[in-house]
Amino acid sequence: MGWLSVGGVGMSESEVEIVILTGAGISAESGIATFRGADGLWEGHRFEDVASPEGFRRDPGLVHRFYNLRRAGLGEVAPNAAHLALVRLEREWRGRFLLVTQNVDDLHERAGSERLVHMHGELKKALCEGCGKSWEWVGDLGTGDACVYCGRVGVVRPDIVWFGEIPYGMDEILGALGRCRIFVSVGTSGSVYPAAGFVDLARRVGARTVECNVAETSASGNFGERRTGLATEVVPALVEELLGSAW
Ligand code: APR
Repeated sequence: MGWLSVGGVGMSESEVEIVILTGAGISAESGIATFRGADGLWEGHRFEDVASPEGFRRDPGLVHRFYNLRRAGLGEVAPNAAHLALVRLEREWRGRFLLVTQNVDDLHERAGSERLVHMHGELKKALCEGCGKSWEWVGDLGTGDACVYCGRVGVVRPDIVWFGEIPYGMDEILGALGRCRIFVSVGTSGSVYPAAGFVDLARRVGARTVECNVAETSASGNFGERRTGLATEVVPALVEELLGSAW
């Protein structure tokens, strides 16, 4: 059992909890568009139209088409070295570990991640606004589809957390952030709360904070350290460093 000096405090590795937050940037090298970069997803759409409850009520067909295209695209992409490095960290780190993703693609689970929370939902799930239940869904979704639980039609939507809605898993996420000694963000612009505020919660408990991104973000100043570069390069290197306890 390794001993770590985290912020000058000696503690056994089993006590050290790591929380990782990922955003669209970790999937970019797999071929999935980010939201706010050049030709990002929000370039072609107003998020109010395709990522809000009001937009879904206004034009459910447009919203279904937007997510059907993204869901169909999952079959053409694969996890990359950054996803796989986080699986290695989860398996080899002897302390507690939680991976929180803002992404709705399935690349983390296809890479092998298990201690995973999709705080913004998942493309491969459907949700019934009638009874509140959700279930696995891989094909196209449309206004004519019925809830597999209550049978209602016209109330089934992608199980995505839209703007103005409460993210999933917040109790578990906030609990882990309150205990963590290391917080790493990968490939997120730090534009959307509550995820953008996680680094502040980690700092408040004295955690080491590391931002991995190809570029500086509006949140960069809140991190103690930065690893600038492609996720497929900087994440494997950071995992090697963390596992080597080369503090
Ligand atoms: N390696 C590392 N970082 C990258 C790479 C890469 N190969 N490519 C892009 N990035 C970085 C960009 O510099 C940017 O900071 O990834 C970030 C992507 O930012 P956004 O497109 O804003 O995506 P994200 O931060 O995940 O958005 C958060 O906003 O629209 C909502 O719900 C949506 O979950 C999403 C949330």
